[in-house]
Amino acid sequence: MNIVILTGAGISAESGLGTFRDDDGLWAKYPIEQVATPEGFQNNPALVHDFYNARRANCAGSAPNPAHTALARLEQQFQGEVLIVTQNVDDLHERAGSRAVWHMHGRLNHAKCQSCDHTWPAPAQMQPDDPCPNCRAKTTRPDVVWFGEMPYFMEDIYARLHSADLFVSIGTSGNVYPAAGFVEQASRAGAATLELNLEPSLGASTFAQCRTGPASTLVPEWVNGLLR
Ligand code: APR
Repeated sequence: MNIVILTGAGISAESGLGTFRDDDGLWAKYPIEQVATPEGFQNNPALVHDFYNARRANCAGSAPNPAHTALARLEQQFQGEVLIVTQNVDDLHERAGSRAVWHMHGRLNHAKCQSCDHTWPAPAQMQPDDPCPNCRAKTTRPDVVWFGEMPYFMEDIYARLHSADLFVSIGTSGNVYPAAGFVEQASRAGAATLELNLEPSLGASTFAQCRTGPASTLVPEWVNGLLR
């Protein structure tokens, strides 16, 4: 049995990392166009680096919660494939012990060079004129996918959705494509679909089953049920 799990900011909320569209979310404090678009970075790279430096520090000071830990246990003990496709740029899945994790929106703890596409582990604080360790150009940025940019792993993700037996979405509002369309792909390919979220997402009606509540409760319960 192959399981594909999509996670969003809601799975990291109880670890103290902000979500995006909840009332106190990140987009309520920082205009998306200024800190999460290529144009915003072009206009003011220092502001964008400050934004991601603050998120990197926030992430370094946080810890995986029982939802992350339960998914790592599922990967270790389940007789079948378990893949996490995450929209999150934090590394809490990895720190909880998950190994098959695809960051479709990039990773906060990695940097990328806009001249040679080299990526490397990001320092805690990045500055606009940090030179690329590969080509020395001063064109480095967080290795995070911004609005208007192509997410990572898309072909491989669609292939895994088409061969999934179960698709589970955890902690995402269903606002942002292409991730918001994964449930459609999976159910069309015959997979069972389940949403675990604090409240019904925009796409809740597309799921065969929806459970509402905090991820730190719902996810361990769901995993225990599967491993029983
Ligand atoms: N447990 C479970 N779900 C939660 C919790 C919790 N403790 N707290 C919040 N949620 C849910 C909210 O109800 C909401 O549906 O998590 C979801 C968070 O939604 P968003 O803030 O929109 O985050 P996300 O869906 O991950 O955003 C997708 O948009 O801004 C871009 O690139 C960014 O990856 C992000 C993408």
